[in-house]
Amino acid sequence: MVSTTTLLDLRGSIARGDLAWRFVRAFFTALQTRRLRAAEDPQMVARLQEFSEALARLAAGDGAVRLQRFGPHLWVGRTRLRPLPEHRLLLRSVLGDFERWGIGGLEFQSDADPAALASFIELYPTVDRCLLAARPEGGRLEVVVELSPQVRALPAQRELNPEEMTPEEARAQARRTFFRALAAARSVTRQCALGGLPELRKTRAVVHEMVDTLVEEEFSLLGMTAIQNFDPYTFQHSVHVSILSMALGQRLGLSRGDLAALGVSAMFHDMGKTRVPKEVLHKPGRFDDTEWRVMRTHPLSGARELLRTGSVSDLLVQVMLVSAEHHLRFDGSGYPPLGDSWQQGLFARIVTLADCFDAMTASRIYMKRPFTPDAVIRYLFENSGRMFDPDLLRLFVEMVGLYPVGSLVRLESGELAVVAEPPTQAREVDRPAVVTLEPGGQGWRVGSVRRLADGAPVDPRCRIQAGCHPQDHEVDVDAVLAQVYLEAA
Ligand SMILES: [Fe+2]
Ligand SMILES: [Fe+2]
Repeated sequence: MVSTTTLLDLRGSIARGDLAWRFVRAFFTALQTRRLRAAEDPQMVARLQEFSEALARLAAGDGAVRLQRFGPHLWVGRTRLRPLPEHRLLLRSVLGDFERWGIGGLEFQSDADPAALASFIELYPTVDRCLLAARPEGGRLEVVVELSPQVRALPAQRELNPEEMTPEEARAQARRTFFRALAAARSVTRQCALGGLPELRKTRAVVHEMVDTLVEEEFSLLGMTAIQNFDPYTFQHSVHVSILSMALGQRLGLSRGDLAALGVSAMFHDMGKTRVPKEVLHKPGRFDDTEWRVMRTHPLSGARELLRTGSVSDLLVQVMLVSAEHHLRFDGSGYPPLGDSWQQGLFARIVTLADCFDAMTASRIYMKRPFTPDAVIRYLFENSGRMFDPDLLRLFVEMVGLYPVGSLVRLESGELAVVAEPPTQAREVDRPAVVTLEPGGQGWRVGSVRRLADGAPVDPRCRIQAGCHPQDHEVDVDAVLAQVYLEAA
């Protein structure tokens, strides 16, 4: 089963690689032909026509195609060209030109017609001169320069280019990026989504190990850069899902190495979203049929994208599988349709839970009446055995509690309270630490932190009666938590 997906993805990747090569070859054949023939020569006209067609076919709806140099490699879009021996000269020639001009690459508008490409080919021998004004003292190009109406020179962006860094620089940068996202996740607003975080205070070593694994693999540095540049929400979500998945994996007793692989896989589960237009991705209302169709492509396009950015390793196959399977359900339904005999792997089952929990608790951004964290837990339970693995779900709830951090609850004493910390013991899922709210002034005053598990079982002050919606009681949960955490700090 694994090999079928891998093969399908390999085939997709090879097909894309072919188009990329066809494009690069068409470009250079046009250049070479122009050296030998006049601009209006029928052979030259034919080469320009081929060049324009190769560009349009490769772009396939994207606005532009980028031919870029990263370290010793040439990339077309996100495809790294893997040269056959006969391509080496061609490759060296392109890379040499880019190097001499101090540019990161060229960008071609996908609708560039033969006439527009002809004007670029005419200008090619003088690109160096065109860039003079933009390149102080012949150094690296720092800005985008329009060379001809539909072709632009791209700056050599060192910081976006993991392959040009030394391994130490790349590692340090990936570490910074990941931990910065983690710090943001710890900010009060997001604490609610990440009731599992206190768990991770104990497990910093696991996160470090995951980040080490992340930076060792070629695909992950590039993938992380791609997701981060594409959309900050998707990046934050990926970091959250990664952390939640590792926290759950730890409860499951996975080894450090497996936890690292799980964390990396979770980090890239939504890689395919980088291929979904942002208007669709961030659409506030419901998707129409066409939009749904686009959204449903992201698990497989993510797997393909990952394969394109790295050489095949065990970890890469694992990561691709999680991307492909993370919208399958425990009962075999979901998407993409992979056949009745296909079962979601363990990592994907973990990531599916973490993904759903984070996406639903983050719904506050999109919805007028967002889900409360405890409503999300109820939803997960309602779908236990259908969407989610019941055993994993039980472990997950032991971790975040029945009322995750940020839930507003009514205690049996009648008091309102906000859950401030997850329960410490598995058997106390309904007894987290809460901070009580007291009526005061124009709203609520923050009372004291009460650990519900510490009270006698009969003490009504220590029992949760029900979850409430903050909008019904005009409680700003984030502000309450901010106060609690600031005082604790
Ligand atoms: Fe997804
Ligand atoms: Fe997701």
